[in-house]
Amino acid sequence: MTKIKIGIIGSGGMARHHLTRFSTMETADLIAIASRNEQTGTQLAKEHKTAFIPEWNRLIEREDIDGVVICTHNDSHGEIALAALQADKHVFVEYPLASDISEGESALRLAEKQGLVLRVSHPEAVSNTHKALKQRIAELGDLLLTSFVRLTPGRGARPEILFNLPVSGTPAHFFIYHIYPIVDFFGGATSVKKNAVYEGLRENGQYDRFVNTLTVEFKRGGIGQWTWAGGVAINAAEEHERYVLTEGTISDASGDWHSTTLSGVTPLSIPDSPQPTLQELWFSEIRDAADHPPNLEDAAVALEAIRISLASD
Ligand SMILES: NC(=O)c1ccc[n+]([C@@H]2O[C@H](COP(=O)([O-])OP(=O)(O)OC[C@H]3O[C@@H](n4cnc5c(N)ncnc54)[C@H](OP(=O)(O)O)[C@@H]3O)[C@@H](O)[C@H]2O)c1
Repeated sequence: MTKIKIGIIGSGGMARHHLTRFSTMETADLIAIASRNEQTGTQLAKEHKTAFIPEWNRLIEREDIDGVVICTHNDSHGEIALAALQADKHVFVEYPLASDISEGESALRLAEKQGLVLRVSHPEAVSNTHKALKQRIAELGDLLLTSFVRLTPGRGARPEILFNLPVSGTPAHFFIYHIYPIVDFFGGATSVKKNAVYEGLRENGQYDRFVNTLTVEFKRGGIGQWTWAGGVAINAAEEHERYVLTEGTISDASGDWHSTTLSGVTPLSIPDSPQPTLQELWFSEIRDAADHPPNLEDAAVALEAIRISLASD
């Protein structure tokens, strides 16, 4: 089978993660890694016996690359994705799709116009749990309320990434992966209300502790609420999620999904059918794009999700 030639931008945790996956795929041909960080970039390129390029725009203009994998911080995803699509490359971009709605919209339009694949790294496309939840939600009537709470303890190994407004955006934007699945279930919002409180916010945009809440009204009806609190006095991260529908409620109490109706409580049955990895899915979409226009539905959900997360600015 013909190999697909790829370039990776960024040389941190997610670049490593994707490289580990691509390196097991016989059809992947890694042409180069670009990163502003020369030390980690050259090290990663050495480990994968590939070329290192300091500037990402030099990588995307190469004619021997079919697709670009963007693993930089949130503040550059949109710009790099747009530039890569303009250079006629298929794109796999870490979430969030962009930190500017018009960049996200332009990326989607360009991918559609040029018949290019634009895949954002949201894993729901290959998740049996997500598919089972989507099916159960469809069986339980109309949405009344969905609520999501995430409590994150003190700062991690790279605190500047989450606790940094200019680089990552608000916590709602950093935690876009909590918004995406709910938008995939219920679609876009007609209105977004937000509240954000930061403790220890400094001039450079870093802070020590936050509480960020969002409330949306979905176009199809129902209310969505997300709450994030970070840097709080809790030992380990905690998450709680609920879907209250007219015919029943789905919740993730005790770590397992259950639905409750007037006839009782039922565990959510999750099939264990094998799923491709996101990287394999992207490759199959690139191959298919030779014959017909790519399906950009997931990218459109990613765009709706940033419309909500960025409304919280
Ligand atoms: N899909 C998932 O499960 C998942 C999980 C975690 C994170 N993410 C997302 O993935 C992205 C990367 O996260 P990470 O944990 O890999 O971060 P990371 O370890 O800090 O790595 C980011 C890399 O990109 C480089 N970089 C940043 N901005 C750049 C730019 N404008 N031009 C060129 N290189 C640039 C960084 O260089 P420096 O070393 O100089 O900063 C670093 O090499 C983030 O957007 C994050 O939200 C996704």
